[in-house]
Amino acid sequence: MNNRQIKVSPSILSGDFGCLADEAKRIEDAGADMLHVDIMDGNFVPNLTMGPKALAAINRATNLFLDVHIMVYHPFDYVEKMVEAGADMLTFHFEATEDVEDTLSFIRRCNIKAGLAFNPETSKEMVIKYLDKCDMVLLMTVHPGFGGQAFIPDVLDKVRFVRDTCEKLNIRQGGVVPKKGSPEENLPPFDIEVDGGINGETAGQCIEAGANILVSGSYLLNYPSLKEGINTLRNAVK
Ligand code: DX5
Ligand code: ZN
Repeated sequence: MNNRQIKVSPSILSGDFGCLADEAKRIEDAGADMLHVDIMDGNFVPNLTMGPKALAAINRATNLFLDVHIMVYHPFDYVEKMVEAGADMLTFHFEATEDVEDTLSFIRRCNIKAGLAFNPETSKEMVIKYLDKCDMVLLMTVHPGFGGQAFIPDVLDKVRFVRDTCEKLNIRQGGVVPKKGSPEENLPPFDIEVDGGINGETAGQCIEAGANILVSGSYLLNYPSLKEGINTLRNAVK
């Protein structure tokens, strides 16, 4: 169906906060591709989770790539703290700042990957303005703030539109548009992540629409075998 490598990023938000280090290790041992960490400020979203100190503790416990999703106002002000705490990719919300481009380039100057997240109601036309300026877009499939919410199927249209645009404009991983004959033509496709309400069924719909990174919290961490759950999501489309 497609040649995109599907990656699974379990969300530690649904883990046991009494033992985050053990949870990170468990997720690594189960074969996850990366680890999704949700940071919320109680303002941009009506919930609080953790700060850089807890992120650093998670980082010490695992070698997994840390996919850090910050749901905070003024994301620019937190970039250095998240980098120091071990973020490998920092994704902030388009809706949370006026300084989207400055924040993306600051994150990249810190030598980590820069992601840009979009709430379900933000238009698809807005998303495509940034495809050549970031390493990944995160298309929220629930309203950010809590785990365990129901998937919003309307977002599939946005996923499809973003993937089609990447293909039409030949935007590859890292937002690179390769020159003809350059080695960059071999870069994998642009990364599109979905987050919220992802389970065995919705994962397949998202992959079919064009997503290649699947975040999953409540479904995966409550799965009887985490390893099986990860494989179920990875292979949701044959
Ligand atoms: C919600 C967070 C998600 C959350 C997803 O705002 O961004 O990463 O952990 O949880 P589930 O998979 O339970 O919807
Ligand atoms: Zn998230």
